[in-house]
Amino acid sequence: MFFVFDGVDGAGKSTQLDLFVEWLRDLGRAVVTCKDPGSTELGEQLRALLLGKHETPIHMRTEMMMFTTARTQLVQQIVKPSLARGEFVVLDRYILSTVVYQGHAGDLDPDELWTVNRIATEGLLPDKTFILDLPVEVAMPRLGQSLDRMESRGAEYMHRVRDGFLFEARRNPDSVEVVDANREIGVIQKEIRETTGKYMARKSSARSRFL
Ligand code: TYD
Repeated sequence: MFFVFDGVDGAGKSTQLDLFVEWLRDLGRAVVTCKDPGSTELGEQLRALLLGKHETPIHMRTEMMMFTTARTQLVQQIVKPSLARGEFVVLDRYILSTVVYQGHAGDLDPDELWTVNRIATEGLLPDKTFILDLPVEVAMPRLGQSLDRMESRGAEYMHRVRDGFLFEARRNPDSVEVVDANREIGVIQKEIRETTGKYMARKSSARSRFL
C-alpha cells in the first residue's frame, strides 16, 4: 500500500509521518519511506537546486518540471520496485505538492500539472494522502529563521498553497484526507491510524470477497 503525507510548510507533516511509519513497523509491515523531492541520487541533486538559496533564475514551469523529474526517478528507482515486493511505501509529499505549490500558488494550470504528473509517474497514485492542515498564521512562525527557497515566498503564497490543498481535497474525497493539525501530536496521529486501519480492513475484505 502507498501512503503520502502532505501539507503547508510547518504543519508537522514529518513528525506525523515518522509516528505513522513506527506504527506500521510495529504491526509487522515492511515499510519504505522517502522524501519527494529526494531519496535518489538525482532527486537529491534536484532538491539542492530547488530548495537551496542561489541566484540562478528558474522559471515556474521549469521548477514544476524539476520537481516532477525528481518524482519520476523516485517512482522508477524506489516506489514501484518496493510496491512490487509487497512493501508499504510512505512518502513525504508527492504529486499534490506540485499541483498546489506550482499550480494553485504558482499560477500554472493545476489540471495540466495532473496530466504531466500522470505521465511522469505512469499514473501511480497513492491509496491515501493525508493533508496536515494548519492556518498559515500558525504554520509560518514554526519555520524559524533560515528559510529555504520555497519557504521564502511569503505569507500570500502560503495562503494560496493552503487553499489549493483544501480545494484538491474536496475534488478527491476518496483518496485525500484533511487532518486538522492544530491539535496535540498524539490526537492527530490517533486519527490518522484509525482512518488507515479502516481503509486497510475495507481493502482486505473487498479482496477476500473476490477470492
Ligand atoms: P519539505 O518536503 O517540506 O522538506 P523540509 O521539511 O526539509 O523543508 O520541503 C520541500 C519544499 O518544496 C516545500 O516548501 C514544498 C516544496 N515543493 C514544491 O513546491 N513542489 C513540489 O512538487 C514538492 C514535492 C515540494
